[in-house]
Amino acid sequence: MNRLIIINAALILTISTPGSAETGKAPDPTAVERGLALFESNCQQCHQAEGVGENIPLGIRSPGFIPAMPLNENSHAWHHGDEQLLQTIRHGNKRMPAFDKVLSEPQMRDLVAYTKSLWSPRILACQGPKHMSCM
Ligand code: HEC
Repeated sequence: MNRLIIINAALILTISTPGSAETGKAPDPTAVERGLALFESNCQQCHQAEGVGENIPLGIRSPGFIPAMPLNENSHAWHHGDEQLLQTIRHGNKRMPAFDKVLSEPQMRDLVAYTKSLWSPRILACQGPKHMSCM
């Protein structure tokens, strides 16, 4: 019974999130270009140029400070599918602000495209749920 409910939930998720079909696929270059401009004005202050992240040694961090992790392939952003990345951008997290009132849905999708442009083809092919079995 439980298994059935989980399968149903997975089906509903797949059907209601058309963007997830793009997970693991190379982004459109024009979307990447628009995403870069949006990244520079909204995200770079924390995630740094080219998404290398904040590298602040533990010893000089204020207690509880959460550094913005790399969005390139050096951290685990690529473990998330497109829709999961979008959810983080929409709603933020502990330190990261929500962008759903600041950016439009297409702009947030352009930011996902830019993020994916920071990954090599090998990493891109392993994006999302596949990352567990792919490497
Ligand atoms: C004020 C700093 C700040 C800004 C601005 C910011 N972020 Fe973040 N981001 C973070 C932090 C810190 C985290 C880690 C989660 C947390 O605790 O907030 C994070 C997490 C993420 C993650 C999850 C990565 C993972 O590996 O799970 C994504 C994706 C992301 N940010 C994308 C963006 C994008 C795109 C923008 C611009 C629209 C942005 N962030 C703007 C600080 C920021």
